[in-house]
Amino acid sequence: MKNNLVLIGFMGTGKTSLGKLLAEKLGRGFVDIDQKIEQDAGITIPQIFEMYGEKYFRELEKKAVKEITQRRGLVIATGGGTVKDEENLRLLKDSGVIVCLTTEPEEIFRRTERRGERPVLDSDEDRLATIKKLLSERQKFYSQADYTIDTTDWSPLQIMGDICKHFRL
Ligand code: S3P
Repeated sequence: MKNNLVLIGFMGTGKTSLGKLLAEKLGRGFVDIDQKIEQDAGITIPQIFEMYGEKYFRELEKKAVKEITQRRGLVIATGGGTVKDEENLRLLKDSGVIVCLTTEPEEIFRRTERRGERPVLDSDEDRLATIKKLLSERQKFYSQADYTIDTTDWSPLQIMGDICKHFRL
């Protein structure tokens, strides 16, 4: 398959780990948008947020999406907020098929509990409430995927098998 396989979904749904597994199994290149942003900037995402703010991070994210979507045959893991930009979503859709990973807010809470890694969740507000609010705001973007999988009770290998079966990969 020449098209990209793009993983979208909220923080903590396992996009990066699954993306690596899928790329290995399918013999494709793997690109993680967050990792690319960090490599290009030479600092971590929490540092980008702290030093320059979210708006600047979103600009870097847009630039990374533009570059990566020129390429084909990749597995791409996006950041949880990448697709809330309509142009990012369109470019990703035009470049391949979109798979959305989901899980329960409580599970996301457990998986993203450590502070200092996900700046959008590190406010002083109730963390679970923030997760639920962002999930509902972003639902309209996540729901545009070609295929959605609830990962709550599944291992990465099972999820990978399901995706490969669905798209006949
Ligand atoms: C973000 C998700 C993060 C990262 C940044 C912002 C978001 O990616 O891009 O911290 O707005 O949901 P992960 O989904 O890989 O954690």
